[in-house]
Amino acid sequence: MGKCRQIAIDGPAGAGKSTVAKRIAEQLGWLYIDTGAMYRAVALLALRRGVALDDAAALTALAERAKIDLLPAKQGCRVLLDGEDVSTEIRLPEVGNAASPVSAVAGVRQALVRQQQELAASRPVVMDGRDIGTVVLPDAPCKVFLTASPQIRAARRAAELKAKGLPADLQQIEQEMRERDARDSNRKYSPLRQAADAHFLDSSTLDIDAVVAQIIAWAEACA
Ligand code: DC
Repeated sequence: MGKCRQIAIDGPAGAGKSTVAKRIAEQLGWLYIDTGAMYRAVALLALRRGVALDDAAALTALAERAKIDLLPAKQGCRVLLDGEDVSTEIRLPEVGNAASPVSAVAGVRQALVRQQQELAASRPVVMDGRDIGTVVLPDAPCKVFLTASPQIRAARRAAELKAKGLPADLQQIEQEMRERDARDSNRKYSPLRQAADAHFLDSSTLDIDAVVAQIIAWAEACA
């Protein structure tokens, strides 16, 4: 693997980032960090506590105080919020929708980015999110911007929810995904953007194995 110790994968919702990142981490024996799960955990806390999703100060305080632990597991990461396993609950569409405005708050991002950088300091990592190559790990030797067509991304997200026994309305998922992507791409702080030195990969017509193989090949080619 040469000198590469960090793989940063960014892209819109449903591009397959977490599936691929987890597989790569498993194959390389590295730590997988699902940063979206951290924003979802803060959003869940806000929904539970009745904190308004535009109250930046209150959301920042929640993010600073919440103890979010990511534990390696078969299905990606198990997510503990103040010791409680919220892995399934944070995948509910309403939590994903709330995570988008929560992740637009600068104070929330500062608190979570600090934790993400600490996690990556001690071990080789595969990290996925929206700002990994641009903000969290700007020096990562291997950066990938992974995307797919909106229809395919929505279908994948619907299949993911169905597999977990959760309700999935394809049209609604596609609509919400487009809104979320627009918000994530147009926000003021750390918008979803391809890093200048990131590889672009459209997974619309590729299976998981092909995407994993391509990213590992890029990582191996890093100086
Ligand atoms: O990847 P996901 O659907 O689990 O992400 C949930 C939300 O969190 C999504 O609206 C984008 C946001 N997010 C972010 O702003 N920065 C990250 N590094 C990861 C996720």
